[in-house]
Amino acid sequence: MNHLAEHLAAGFAQVPKTLSSKYFYDAAGSRLFQQIMGLPEYYPTRTELAIFRAQGAAIGRALAAGAAAGQPLDVVELGAGDGLKTKLLLRELLGQTLSIIYVPVDISASALEELVASLRQELPALPTAPLAAEYGAALTALAERPEAKAVLFLGSNIGNFAPAEQAEFLRALARPLTPADRLLVGFDLRKDPRRIRAAYDDAQGVTAEFNFNLLRRLNAEAGANFDLAQWQHFPDYDPSTGAMRSWLVSRRAQTVQVAALAGQTFEIAAWEAIQTESSYKFTLPQITELAATAGLRVVEVFQDEAGDFADVVLAVEG
Ligand code: AVJ
Repeated sequence: MNHLAEHLAAGFAQVPKTLSSKYFYDAAGSRLFQQIMGLPEYYPTRTELAIFRAQGAAIGRALAAGAAAGQPLDVVELGAGDGLKTKLLLRELLGQTLSIIYVPVDISASALEELVASLRQELPALPTAPLAAEYGAALTALAERPEAKAVLFLGSNIGNFAPAEQAEFLRALARPLTPADRLLVGFDLRKDPRRIRAAYDDAQGVTAEFNFNLLRRLNAEAGANFDLAQWQHFPDYDPSTGAMRSWLVSRRAQTVQVAALAGQTFEIAAWEAIQTESSYKFTLPQITELAATAGLRVVEVFQDEAGDFADVVLAVEG
């Protein structure tokens, strides 16, 4: 049985039915996400980029603080994607005459290949050691590398985890680190709830396509027969918890059959909602508390002027 079919069986046994956003990112999904990052409504990418443009030098210094002079620094990035924002930081770090090795990790092998090819063009002096893997495998690989580390987890990817899992993930990230190592985590902050919701409900419908891509993948890779016309992309934001959620809502009662599950069928009621993604939004006190829960301390906070987004430098307690 293939893992996507298994995931579908497990996710549809839950209440509400759930699919993981990590399966958005096949080649087509990674391309759709790149399109999302350029949308007028989707402010996080451009805001984090602005933070790096304005404060990249200081961020670079904060990341390299623990690396002894002349010693190599591993810059490990989880969920590197197209690396657009990271290239800015990498240039900074190279400019600070550090010997760095860039270790981009991404679940999408195709996105990773494109990233490495573009780095060969744009930063030919930068040694890279790409890793096509999920976060779990990346943490194991991380523990095996002896160099000083700057670990990047940008774009508010952390918001995809439920609150309890956020701390657990940070704790796992912190485990292989020494007090000299640094973590840089991007957090999307709470703001006008209508702006947040609009970022996941763009006028061109790219985010809807991104969400539908999950069903497309299940059709292609698990032999499911989802009829995309019978589904609706529905984003909702709860300003009291910071939970931004995306759903796929069934427009009518329907039965879906899955070839890779020996033709097993699933009943979906009219207007039943399948949860596909959470993108939590944060407050600064919450970030400090989250760090403490994970055994980390906040070293420095970098924000845009409007306070829409924060890039937070963390270190394990010495
Ligand atoms: C890449 C996980 C940070 O949650 O904002 C964008 C993905 N989903 N639009 C996010 C996404 C819908 C994005 N992350």
